[in-house]
Amino acid sequence: MNVNVEALLMKHYGPGSEALEVLLTHSRCVAEKALTVADRVAHLEPDRLFIKEASMLHDIGMIHTWAPGIGCRGEYPYILHGVIGAEMLQKEGLRRHARVCERHTGAGLSVMEIVEADLPLPHRNLLPDTLEEKIICFADKFFSKNPTTLTHEKSIAKVRSLMAQYGDTQLVRFEAMAALFE
Ligand SMILES: [Fe+2]
Repeated sequence: MNVNVEALLMKHYGPGSEALEVLLTHSRCVAEKALTVADRVAHLEPDRLFIKEASMLHDIGMIHTWAPGIGCRGEYPYILHGVIGAEMLQKEGLRRHARVCERHTGAGLSVMEIVEADLPLPHRNLLPDTLEEKIICFADKFFSKNPTTLTHEKSIAKVRSLMAQYGDTQLVRFEAMAALFE
């Protein structure tokens, strides 16, 4: 499949908007990192074209969330950007890309974590499952959406300490991906 990423982004983001600039810069960083990770596991034959497309689209849902610091003035809490993005891509018939959107938050979220933390997310597992889903979720953790540090790649030590702040479950799941990809 060959998706016209640019046309899709233009459909939902105003040309030249602050949100689009943040999204493009962040997504390019994630795509580059994800392809570097894919090179490390070339023996597992990751789908590079899909990784590039899905990396560029993984945060598309942020436009409908409230995150004014990055130009997003939607009505939903930011934590919903993944599932909102998944709905947007499902409407385009991009079911495989949609899964990447809904499964990249943190190190992925199990239904247990969602229920226990009372997160405003659907009560089902939102865990990266396929190789490509895991690669993009992992790569995403190295980049923030802070407009002043968008292109700054965090060290793995920094990512580990951030994951640990979200609890052991997140850290353990991140470490499982790091063991595969680092
Ligand atoms: Fe992201």
